[in-house]
Amino acid sequence: MSLAEGNKSKQYMELNESRIHFPNEIQLSDLLKKDLILSDEDFILADTNTSRLCFPILKILVPELNEERLIILDAGEYGKNISTLNHIWSFLQHAGADKNSRLVNLGGGVITDIGGFAASTFKRGIRFVHIPTSLMGMADASIGGKTAINLGKVKNQVGLFSLPEQVIIYHGFLKTLAWEEFLSGYAELIKIGLAFDRSLWELLSEVDFQETNREYICSQLEDSLLPMAIESKIMVTTRDLTDRGERQCLNFGHSIAHAIEALFLSEGNEIKHGFAVAAGIICEAWISNRVIGLSALDMGKIQSYILEYFPCIPFQEDDIDDILQLLRHDKKNYDGDILMSLLTAPGKCIREVKCSENIIRESLLHYQQLS
Ligand SMILES: NC(=O)c1ccc[n+]([C@@H]2O[C@H](COP(=O)([O-])OP(=O)(O)OC[C@H]3O[C@@H](n4cnc5c(N)ncnc54)[C@H](O)[C@@H]3O)[C@@H](O)[C@H]2O)c1
Repeated sequence: MSLAEGNKSKQYMELNESRIHFPNEIQLSDLLKKDLILSDEDFILADTNTSRLCFPILKILVPELNEERLIILDAGEYGKNISTLNHIWSFLQHAGADKNSRLVNLGGGVITDIGGFAASTFKRGIRFVHIPTSLMGMADASIGGKTAINLGKVKNQVGLFSLPEQVIIYHGFLKTLAWEEFLSGYAELIKIGLAFDRSLWELLSEVDFQETNREYICSQLEDSLLPMAIESKIMVTTRDLTDRGERQCLNFGHSIAHAIEALFLSEGNEIKHGFAVAAGIICEAWISNRVIGLSALDMGKIQSYILEYFPCIPFQEDDIDDILQLLRHDKKNYDGDILMSLLTAPGKCIREVKCSENIIRESLLHYQQLS
């Protein structure tokens, strides 16, 4: 990674050939017009919310952007599937997209995940840019080159690693984000701190994450929290882009989160990814305490901070067998064992820890008793 530390005015970080920018309002305009040169030749992928709330911001800065090249998906996780992918490919084909075309993904993690996948596979790969508009997208989903769609009930089963040519993190988009989406994205920042950067976790654990405090939180995100989280993620993904080694630690909290999310999705009740991650962090911190010695003090601090701000996920005892069944599909599993990334301490994560179904069941029962 080369951090543009010595050149603060540029405000970008790099991950291989992919450049991650942090423009303020004025720099955004310059970036889109001079460096990135968005044009009427670009295709833009957005959802029903970001086309309405974020596209107009780009259009003011780059009036030549062409609405006819705007592909709009229904907002939400349900759309992250093969039929939507087919819709994007077909749109590009009918509009005459070729190897020189570029797809600009303007939205949250659903749009950057599916848009990255669509662009990387259309005509064996066209260029793409991420402009994340949710906190989840900025902190995590747009960084590191993972693209995917869900397959049936199971999250992110089909995808590939593919880096965007540019990522533009513009905090102004957060102004219209619903509070629950804000909170959802915050769970991924907590995860990054816990998995890789104790000092980030310590800063986060001091933040009073109430809606009434939104303005202050935004300034903290912009000044330090987001750059710290992104820098950690870049360092890890630079060393292990394809998730064979230490990158798996970014899955801390996610084995259980994905299973809970898939359970609710299959019942037609979508829950926020970050809320599932918050539940997963509590369960996996509990397992970390039992299996690899995370201190009771640290476990308690993680648990109480998350419980203070995140809603409890209301699954029933009867659902636990289904959650375990879904966990068996987790991509990290090997040779029939359920493997998790767990913490020995905040900022210190160990991957591929074998976990028995019994201990996972106990952690889910523990979580249930907290609500
Ligand atoms: N690729 C990765 O490394 C990675 C990492 C984390 C999460 N993800 C994926 O990201 C997805 C979750 O991301 P998400 O929470 O951003 O979901 P999302 O894309 O569904 O966005 C959440 C909601 O916020 C709306 N929204 C987005 N930006 C807005 C804005 N500026 N103003 C108003 N509304 C806005 C969207 O329309 C949507 O309704 C999941 O599918 C998850 O698997 C991927």
